[in-house]
Amino acid sequence: MSIEKPIEKPIDELTPDAATPSRVFDVEHVLAGLTLEEKASLLSGLDFWTTQPVGREGVTVPGVMVTDGPHGLRKQADSPDHLGLGNSVPATCFPTAATLGSTWDPALLRRVGEALGRETRANDVAVLLGPGINIKRSPLNGRNFEYLSEDPVIAGELGAALVAGVQSQGVGTSLKHFAANNQEADRMRVSADVDERTLREIYLAGFERVVKQAQPWTVMCSYNKINDVYASQNHWLLTEVLRDEWGFEGLVMSDWGAVRDRVAAVAAGLDLEMPASGGRTDAEVVAAVRDGSLDEAVVDVAARRVLHLVARALPALDSARAAAAGPAAGPAGYDADAHHALAREAAAAGTVLLKNDGVPVGGAADSSADGAADREAAAPLLPLASGDGVAVVGELARTPRYQGAGSSQVNPTRLDDALTALRAATGADVPFAAGYTVDGADLGSGTDEAALRAQAVEVARAAGTVLVFLGLPASYESEGFDREHMDLPAEQVALLEAVAAVNPRIVVVLANGSAVSVAAWQHLAPAVVEGWLGGQAGGSGVVDVLLGAVNPAGRLAETLPLRLVDNPSYGNFPGELGHVRYGEGVLVGYRWYDARQADVAYPFGHGLSYTTFAYDGVAAEALAPGSDPAADDAAVRVRVTVTNTGELPGAEVVQVYVGDPVAQVLRPERELKAFAKVDLAPGESRELTFDLTARDLSYWHPVLRRWVVEGGEFVVSVGASSRDLRGSATVVVDGDDVRLPLAELSTVAEAIDHPVVGPQVDALVHGGAVADDMLGMIGDMPLAVVADFGMAGFDRARLATLLAEANA
Ligand code: BGC
Repeated sequence: MSIEKPIEKPIDELTPDAATPSRVFDVEHVLAGLTLEEKASLLSGLDFWTTQPVGREGVTVPGVMVTDGPHGLRKQADSPDHLGLGNSVPATCFPTAATLGSTWDPALLRRVGEALGRETRANDVAVLLGPGINIKRSPLNGRNFEYLSEDPVIAGELGAALVAGVQSQGVGTSLKHFAANNQEADRMRVSADVDERTLREIYLAGFERVVKQAQPWTVMCSYNKINDVYASQNHWLLTEVLRDEWGFEGLVMSDWGAVRDRVAAVAAGLDLEMPASGGRTDAEVVAAVRDGSLDEAVVDVAARRVLHLVARALPALDSARAAAAGPAAGPAGYDADAHHALAREAAAAGTVLLKNDGVPVGGAADSSADGAADREAAAPLLPLASGDGVAVVGELARTPRYQGAGSSQVNPTRLDDALTALRAATGADVPFAAGYTVDGADLGSGTDEAALRAQAVEVARAAGTVLVFLGLPASYESEGFDREHMDLPAEQVALLEAVAAVNPRIVVVLANGSAVSVAAWQHLAPAVVEGWLGGQAGGSGVVDVLLGAVNPAGRLAETLPLRLVDNPSYGNFPGELGHVRYGEGVLVGYRWYDARQADVAYPFGHGLSYTTFAYDGVAAEALAPGSDPAADDAAVRVRVTVTNTGELPGAEVVQVYVGDPVAQVLRPERELKAFAKVDLAPGESRELTFDLTARDLSYWHPVLRRWVVEGGEFVVSVGASSRDLRGSATVVVDGDDVRLPLAELSTVAEAIDHPVVGPQVDALVHGGAVADDMLGMIGDMPLAVVADFGMAGFDRARLATLLAEANA
């Protein structure tokens, strides 16, 4: 493939606005001057990372660079080799989406986005390839660390904040991977077989939210098929839903190598194929226009979108170049220290305190269930106090696992490890033992895992409190393959057991990109902290939480199930023979566990604080349309007062769930519809108001194929997690007409329910035409069958009249 340098003539040389200082790139003028071949060439990459330039007398279109993403810039400096990950420029490695999702903090993610945008722009890159907002359908997805949540409201709200932040810097984003890319196994071919309601309510809803709120410059289509049609060739997805329904104004690019049939993809709405095809697919597009199978106007639309992308990127890139050339420019064009500090803030904010019990004074190592009750009564282990006599065991404290593998892998500007951060913060020479190796690291002669464990036990025995760092080695989770199980490595669990046998004061600190099983070992640890993959400052961020410099306010954006077999996708993941059936429908994540009333290890939304919060006065009222001009699409207003009842300042994540107990379709017990993170001083109260829209109450009607609100009672619950609801209110809402047209195959019961013809049918059935012993059976019979049975007074002619009357 060609990897020539793009032609970088100043754009103003050849545009009609050449003389103007604003350097306007006149898209329509440029487009009108391009040949068919040139337009087709714009529709694929020049190399791995650059769009194709056009440069000839009279026309100049610069190429612009797009690059990964999502939680830091991976700009490959020299040879653009997709899989060679070592040579990218240094960039801040912000926490992965697993951590960012757990912040539940759009304002913070907006700031992270701004910093990402600054680095993108300073590095002469037009589009950062992210964020990824696919739903975490199974804990096994190897790429869950790159995704925000199992819930589309969290994924959408946080994704929109990231997009808005990046784009505020004059560079673009690529919202990915659109759509239903929820596994890595067979990702380039598999058909995600998903019913439309499930797609709309779960797998597309986050994308819809981001598109409508933040208009990403680009959307990246996924590799997989959706119901047998490749995403890259899916007209329904890329044009009817994305553009016509949601109003997307940007460009759709392919995931790298996701195009199977370029001509079909152009027709479907896929504007830019990445990376380069070496001219092969450009020629196919030209040939299709020439033989009449593709309208040139369709090529123009796609080429115009590429030109628009170039045009909107140029001002920021030009000004960044000018600034870099200026006297005041730093080497990187952004403040790397400030970005590191922000990465640390975000890492701490996304750290989830799962559990924080105490150990009775003089308490012996006790793994029994009875021991647990006493522990709860004793002072919680965290935050650590001076005099706790802390020791650290676990290689991951010294050699952090802070990001996932694959295309998102960043070359960090710095790297904090928890051990060094703890020693620096406490000023103490905290004892340490590795305890295990990660990914079979070379131990050298004369030692083995058992010897490492024995050293750790001695360190732990002498300590007041032991911090045990555990997690998934890099070989366990990555882009490109899925995990096989949810367990921690056996040698790590063995270490925990050995340490717990000599010291009960154990805090486990986890590093992993997606849910791990805790059921087998967490009784050994009174306190458990989930740090996820916290980016280059993850080590210092988690120490901030351990020491109480930051009061934890992270909340789980994915349920931690007790066992893999409890997960709704179990048995349908990752599919077989090219198909993965989303058999659980809309019951994804907590929606499933709640429907099954299944115990979980930690529920969606869970996370502890070093302070406590009370919820009072939960109330919900239905709003008449237009009753509040400031919020004219509000349908229900929810109020709650939250008070910090503890002694430390802290932030609470207030979560609003909605349930619709009676509906024509199965609805989840409750669904997150709104949330807010609120900082409260000790004793402080705040009344919060949430406006829910009709859409928040609606479901996608599979037959009517539109969003509907089924009128009646809705239950609004407010709480600190999906299983820690602190108050609820019932509200009655007027609904939409969800009646289906009456047809020959409508049942008798459906006809009786019909407001126009119902009384006639009821009179017929109960008026003696049907024998009493048939009454129970007849309700489910289609009207046509009843007519054909020739029951008294009801035949095909009468049926036709009835239907005409009903559907008039
Ligand atoms: C990944 C994308 C990534 C692209 C470019 C693909 O394999 O799925 O997320 O942006 O490569 O590196």
